Amino acid sequence: MALQTINPTTTASWAKLREHFELIQNTTMQEMFQQDPDRAEKFGIKWNDFLLDYSKNRISTKTMSLLLDLASELDLKNAIKDYFAGEPINKTENRAVLHTALRAQKTDVINVDGTNIVPAVYEVKDKIKAFSHQVISGNQKGYTHKAFTDVVNIGIGGSDLGPAMAVEALGYYRNHLNIHFVSNIDGDHVHEIIKKIHPETTLFVLVSKTFTTQETLTNAQTIKKWFLQTAKQEDVAKHFVAVSTNIPKTTEFGIHPDNVFPMWDWVGGRFSLWSAVGLSVSLAVGYKNFEDLLRGANEMDTHFKTTDLDQNMPVILALLSIWYNNFFGAQTEAIIPYTQYLQKLAPYLQQGIMESNGKSVGRDCKTVNYQTGTIIWGEPGTNAQHAFFQLLHQGTKLIPSDFIGFKTPLYGNTEHHDKLMANFFAQTQALMQGKAAEQVQAECQQQGMTAEEIKFITAFKTFQGNKPTNALLIEKLTPKTLGALLALYEHKIFVQGIIWNIFSFDQWGVELGKQLANTILEEITTQKVSAQDSSTTALLKYYLNK
Ligand code: F6P
Repeated sequence: MALQTINPTTTASWAKLREHFELIQNTTMQEMFQQDPDRAEKFGIKWNDFLLDYSKNRISTKTMSLLLDLASELDLKNAIKDYFAGEPINKTENRAVLHTALRAQKTDVINVDGTNIVPAVYEVKDKIKAFSHQVISGNQKGYTHKAFTDVVNIGIGGSDLGPAMAVEALGYYRNHLNIHFVSNIDGDHVHEIIKKIHPETTLFVLVSKTFTTQETLTNAQTIKKWFLQTAKQEDVAKHFVAVSTNIPKTTEFGIHPDNVFPMWDWVGGRFSLWSAVGLSVSLAVGYKNFEDLLRGANEMDTHFKTTDLDQNMPVILALLSIWYNNFFGAQTEAIIPYTQYLQKLAPYLQQGIMESNGKSVGRDCKTVNYQTGTIIWGEPGTNAQHAFFQLLHQGTKLIPSDFIGFKTPLYGNTEHHDKLMANFFAQTQALMQGKAAEQVQAECQQQGMTAEEIKFITAFKTFQGNKPTNALLIEKLTPKTLGALLALYEHKIFVQGIIWNIFSFDQWGVELGKQLANTILEEITTQKVSAQDSSTTALLKYYLNK
């Protein structure tokens, strides 16, 4: 079935939400908490190792019921069915969207064009397993019969951000292999990596779904050239493997077909971590942990697919985001994980969320007349507190934030962990409660300040509060909980795309810049600058005048 093409602002629920917004927008969360002692219980979901507390949001039961009506009116349930069933919901590319099949159970049957794709997924998983084992155990050797010590993942976008984030996130579970990532076409990036590795003991994983991406191919060629300064052409096959859908291109590069890990066009780049794109994750933490990552994601898939909408974590997070984006006019959302291991989560989610939902044409082919994709940013706490939290607390913008914390520290250092989590709880509390002028004045008096001093300083030390946060408290950072967390955000993306009536799984917006870069590169290499807009022409002339 094709997805509906309804402009959400034309629905009855949207109109009711508008009316409701007018009534509720000036009610503060402080008042809501005072009025309802059961608020945390009402607006909380416990699922497996996750607790989602969304009570510190500017919502009432009425808000949630209207948002859920909106989801129903826009046929979310059937859209979810279509998504998991492999319907071609990526209509502009005429493709199914089946990253969920990559973490399906072996016995599941998921058909694409009449063929069950699950056996092929498991074939590749077996290949990842065997290869990871060979490399980690040292049985797989380089051209001078030495075991590999280093792995370089060469890819960009979804072929870099997911593996780089997951390798960092699962640092606690890492083995002896050093994993490096080269993504930027900036030659200084690749040269910094080259400084750290040795050709005899380094394995190169070329990750590119299309195998046509300029950055990845340029970096791969540079690395191959460097490798061939000491090794021979036939050694390339021992040191270079690829993850791609484009076998002819990988062969042309010199990679033996046995060393190509296939992927499929029904996996979007930014959702491809679960495929062989995650090979460097499997190499870094071992296949068993990689499989646990997939298992966690699969459990979240089941939760999303089978749970009623009002208890469904991705649905609730998506609806809250829509509430702020489309009714309060919030522009951005912050992601604040309280673990250093998740320092690359925000950049990873930036691609997932912004490349998916940064669209302004609806599924009805018309320009939308409402806001879509949110701007995503963030940093781990407590570092973030000392960087940009001032603006969250006292700035003029409304920034709904997700706080992600864990109950158990990995190295068992409870002293640090209690301090870390005390900050997590305190920040969400401060953002919600704020600090009243009376309290500021009382504190100032206690400190012996004069009346005049107090009069001056009060406004600056007052916090309005009423800033929304979701608190996601997870048992422990494991491959499995990480998998579930990432899948949670993937499904949140899906729900928002459905409601916003956009196609979330294409990315035409990245094409124009690529096209123009090719034309401009030609002008740079030939040193012939054509008459373009005066700014670009002047910049090019200045650049060429070295
Ligand atoms: O930036 C656009 C994009 O197509 C992303 O969606 C993708 O993750 C990235 O480029 C890399 O593409 P590929 O894996 O084909 O090299």
